[in-house]
Order: sequence, then C-alpha cells, then structure tokens
Amino acid sequence: MLSKEQNDLITQTGPGTPCGQLLRSYWQPILTSEELPPGAPPLPLRIMSEELVLYRNADGSLGMLGLYCPHRGTDLSYGRIEDGGLRCLYHGWLFDAKGHCQDQPAEKGGGAFRDKIRHIAYPVREMGGLVFAYMGEGEPPLIPNYNFLTAPEDYRIAFRVVQDCNWVQAMEGSIDPAHTSFLHRIAPKEKRGQTDATPAGMHADYFGEDTCPDIEIERTWFGVRICTLRNLERGERYLRVTNYLYPNGATVVGAETAQNAGGYSGRWYVPVDDRTHLRFELLHVTDEPINKQMFRARRSKEIGPDNRHIRNAANRYLQDREEMKSETFSGLGRYFPAQDALAIETPGAIYDRSQEHLGRSDLAVVQMRRALLDAIEQMQAGGEAPGVLRDPAKNVFPDLMVFGDFIEPGLSGPEHCAQRLERTRSGGTKDAP
Ligand code: FES
Ligand SMILES: [Fe+2]
Repeated sequence: MLSKEQNDLITQTGPGTPCGQLLRSYWQPILTSEELPPGAPPLPLRIMSEELVLYRNADGSLGMLGLYCPHRGTDLSYGRIEDGGLRCLYHGWLFDAKGHCQDQPAEKGGGAFRDKIRHIAYPVREMGGLVFAYMGEGEPPLIPNYNFLTAPEDYRIAFRVVQDCNWVQAMEGSIDPAHTSFLHRIAPKEKRGQTDATPAGMHADYFGEDTCPDIEIERTWFGVRICTLRNLERGERYLRVTNYLYPNGATVVGAETAQNAGGYSGRWYVPVDDRTHLRFELLHVTDEPINKQMFRARRSKEIGPDNRHIRNAANRYLQDREEMKSETFSGLGRYFPAQDALAIETPGAIYDRSQEHLGRSDLAVVQMRRALLDAIEQMQAGGEAPGVLRDPAKNVFPDLMVFGDFIEPGLSGPEHCAQRLERTRSGGTKDAP
C-alpha cells in the first residue's frame, strides 16, 4: 500500500513534478522510426503532458519542438518542412531543431528580435528502430546499449501501443511474476483436445503448474532483478528472470516463444499524460533472424491502425466466456498484451494504491516501487538519477540477465544467476542480452 502522497509522487509526471524530473533525466522513446518515414508530415505528440511536434527534415534528421508557435500560438504540426526546419503557416517564422528562429519574413530588418526567440526544443535520436527524446535539463546522458536496441536489425522489431491508464500500472504489470499463472494461463494442449500452432503456450503451461512461485529480488545498478522459481509437476524447476530498468523500463521473457527461438522483449512505459501512456516493446530474438512478417501479422489482428488495442473497455475486451471453459483463463485470446491491458486499465486511469491489499506474491511490485521512490528521493536531494550513463566504457550490461530456463536442483534463483554471470564473464556462454 502507498500513501496518497506517495501515490501522487510516482504517478504525476508533468513538468516540474519530482517523478517527471526523474523520467526527464533519461532518454525516453516517443515513437517508432517507421512511423515517421522520410516525407511524412510533422507529427503532434503529447509526452509527459507537454504538447510537442516531431518532424523529419529532407536530409532524414529529426527535430522536436513545442507544438505552439512562440509568435502567436499556431499549431506547428500544420507547418511546412523546408529550409532546414519547420515553418509556421501563420506568418512564416522558421525554427531549427534547436528552437532557434531562423526567419521572420514579415518583420523588417530581422536580426535582434529574431535572435531573441528561443522556442521549446528537445534533442532527438534514433536507435534500435525507436525515436528517443531527451526532455531534461543539462547535457543528455547516453542511451543505454541494451542488446534489444543494439542487435542487428534482422534480430529485433519495435512496436508502440497507446494504453489508457497511468504508466506505473503498466510498469507494475510487466514485472509482476504472479499474474502470469492466471491472466496469461493457456490450457495445455492435451486439455484443449486440439492441436495448437501457437508455441506461446509453452511457457504459459509452466505458469499454470505452479501458481505460488518463489520470488527473490536483487537491487542492481540498472534497476531490480526478479527471479521467479516454479516447481513443475515433473519435478523440474523453472526459473524466469525479468528486470525493472530505471526508471520506466523492463525486460520480459515470453513473446519470442511465438517463434520458438531464444530471446526476450525490452519495454518502456512512457507517459502521454498521467492518464494515458505509450507501451514500447522491442522483441529481440537471439538465435536466428526475427520473423518480422509473423510478428506484424499477429499484432495487426490485435492492434488497430490508431495504435490502440482492438480489445478495450468499450467492448469489454471482447471477452469470450466459452473460450474460458477450456482454452484460456481470461477468455481474451492468446495475445498477452491485450490480457495485460484489461488488468492495468480496469483499476481506473490513476489507481489509488491506498486502497490495495498487498500479499507476499507482490514482492516484485513492492521492490520496484521502492526503487522508484528511492530514485526520486535521490534526485530531490540533488544527486544524479540512478543508472544514468555518461561514461561509454560503462555502457555495457553483462549482468542484465533475461531468460526462462530449467535450473539444477538445490540452487536458488540468485545463485543460479551468479553462476551464469560468472560463466559469461569467463567467456563460457553468450548469455548476457
Ligand atoms: S503564429 Fe507562427 S508565425 Fe505567427
Ligand atoms: Fe502480463
């Protein structure tokens, strides 16, 4: 349970709020690169309650400015991309990507007045198929070299979806180890009495076999490592390791099983405002090139052209009670993000955590919130946000482990991870993502 004050502290992200300041200390994904191809019109965006416009110049470079022209407020997303910047339709003021006014064609003489104008502008960069913006103060840090961003293009794919709730609800859902046993449970094939071409059921079968797993948490320099150990019916021990990444990211094992290959997904939950957020997912297949066509086809059945879930509150998430009898626990098909959307959106846009009743199985959620609150406190005390990278030599993640695997008897999750890391460091495996 959180107090009303703590709840406000982690859920409010507008300009000047403590959590907003924390999130603005890191590069934040705001779009997938393919959503703004060369020649695309400028795109209005709201990020952390700020109204912005993103545009791509003829040379491919990007700029992000405040949406409203500093002259008399016209929406710049209707503007012309020309002469190395974005030109307002109303009186033709031209802005470059640093917010400098380069032209005021209706003003005689130009010069001093023009040079005084500084429009809101944030640095933008592309990496791993995503567009990142740095909306904080001072020198931007480095974008972390997570493998799901730096892997060759054939091994990753990025998606974005809009979800209707505060970003923390999504963050909590992604690192909550217990819910997979219920929300995402799929009946084993033999119980369904039919063949199933969706190998995603493989992990889901394990989730259902042990609904009360051992959860162990370790705080790391990049966030929180969560080890979830399930004891299966055949005596095997199935360890799933996920991570909370400062301040609004996660890594999760699961989606890659649709390809029956090794890998995992990286996530970010970026506030649009405090009642809506963007869920970014980077699927990273490690063993072979990713089947992008399959992932796109799968997604197009579930996500509309507006980048929103087709299953939503207005249609009661298209829940199928017949399906619930024999195929899935939720009656929401096999696409996990749609199931997650129901779980995180239905508590309301900003859940009041003073009303909740946490159990032992909520340990990961509790520890993630604690890490987040500590990070906010650290910043408010004048320190650097945790995990912010400025030294290229430190921008490596050998200890960021993400996997689901059977482990040997007698070892705890953290002990297995320590041994695995040791093997990676001594060059024995290529485990680190
Ligand atoms: S309002 Fe944009 S140039 Fe006048
Ligand atoms: Fe989930």
